[in-house]
Amino acid sequence: MEEKLGRINDWAKGKPAPPKSIELITTNRCNEKCLTCWMRGTTEEALRATYPQEMSDERLRRLVDEAAEMGVYEFAFVGGGDPMARRVTFELMQRIRAKGMHGDLVTNGTLFRPGQIEELIRIQWDRIKFSVDGASPEVYDHLRGLPGGFRILKGNLLKTKDLKLQYNSRFPRVAFNVVITNSNYRDFLNIIELAHEVGCEEILLLPMTIFSDTGAKLKLNPEETREFQRLILEGMRRIKKYGIYSNMHEFLDTRLIQDTNEMDQVMLEEAKTQEERATGENRALTGAADEMNRNQRQLMQVFSGREENFRHLPCYMPWHHITVIANGNIAPCFNGYVWETKVSLKDNALAELWYGPYFEGFRKQLEARKLWDTCATCCVWRVFENREIRDEMRTRGPQERKTEERSGKDVDPQHRVSAIMRSLVDRAKEVVPLAGIRR
Ligand SMILES: C[S@@+](CC[C@H](N)C(=O)[O-])C[C@H]1O[C@@H](n2cnc3c(N)ncnc32)[C@H](O)[C@@H]1O
Ligand code: SF4
Ligand code: SF4
Repeated sequence: MEEKLGRINDWAKGKPAPPKSIELITTNRCNEKCLTCWMRGTTEEALRATYPQEMSDERLRRLVDEAAEMGVYEFAFVGGGDPMARRVTFELMQRIRAKGMHGDLVTNGTLFRPGQIEELIRIQWDRIKFSVDGASPEVYDHLRGLPGGFRILKGNLLKTKDLKLQYNSRFPRVAFNVVITNSNYRDFLNIIELAHEVGCEEILLLPMTIFSDTGAKLKLNPEETREFQRLILEGMRRIKKYGIYSNMHEFLDTRLIQDTNEMDQVMLEEAKTQEERATGENRALTGAADEMNRNQRQLMQVFSGREENFRHLPCYMPWHHITVIANGNIAPCFNGYVWETKVSLKDNALAELWYGPYFEGFRKQLEARKLWDTCATCCVWRVFENREIRDEMRTRGPQERKTEERSGKDVDPQHRVSAIMRSLVDRAKEVVPLAGIRR
């Protein structure tokens, strides 16, 4: 979070900063046939037609080099298909670590080749997110369309645990991505037990976005949602006992399970609510300002305008993140836009796009607080992420942001008001030379 906030903060002050992260899809190829996957919304033929359009190995290597030169902090390999279905992915992971950047990998966990898990420990790869949609062959193999898939996945999870113990290594950290459907929510507590058994440190729930008719049939109905939420309460007790982190508590909010195809509305509402809360706090500050001398009042006025607006945007992706899909198309996130854009890394350098008019266009639209139609199917995690960014921007001053670790504790309203006040004054000091203020 510190890396991300630091860069967003620079942009807020008018100082361009490099992206914190690049989400890279190297291929749409995959060995599984998950019923939930976006690929079920397209034809096998259309998918195959994307393979020859993949960026070349050489362009991908160069992308890693460009990112390192720009000061990118981390890469995340996601899908698309399965990152490990393309050989060059593993080589890129080694290159990323050799250049001192960090890495995340999302995978179905069934495609590791001999020696690769050991090598990920050697290079201290940061994290592997295994997609675990069931804790038994019956549930997993059915949802993921790969007979024997669960056995291979579990074998690789246990191998990762054993090798990490053998090398006394904390890395790669193991996380579970769990897509919640009406075919697996009853297996949820068993998935927690599996996580404990294999040394998983994070369980990250993904309510299902509907990409196809097949996916639509797997959506939880309101009754199932309530039943699942009761399981979450028990799940929260277990992860506490096991010391596993999870975002499961977020899904006690029914909207985040039921309205996964209306995420644009959720995002806009959240930004508005947070702004209204802040406006209330600012009013309290204005009352206090009557007590202040003129000098201090003038300092407060400096904080209005663009920077204030920046604290309540619906989304911050184009200021810290890039998504690149297999054909080289590039955009600030994995929404419909990235599929439709004609802008590709095949014909452009990374820095030119990030600092040029292409990304500037995304930033302008979001500063005007407008989303795209395709934001309706935004990933729920982006809702959490944007909420956290707004919260942090509101409660912390620019100086603090660079050095402080996030405490994770709730900030009481009194503290929040004083934090805003501190940030107002700090910021104003940077912009207005004190001597320039008339008394
Ligand atoms: C598209 S997959 C690509 C990476 C890799 N093949 C895998 O399955 O882990 C990325 C993540 O999206 C999850 N996913 C699949 N279908 C989904 C859906 N309909 N809604 C939300 N997430 C989904 C997968 O379980 C996985 O964790
Ligand atoms: S393994 Fe990943 S990419 Fe492959 S079908 Fe499943 S969700 Fe889609
Ligand atoms: S889809 Fe992308 S641009 Fe739209 S709200 Fe989500 S992260 Fe932001």
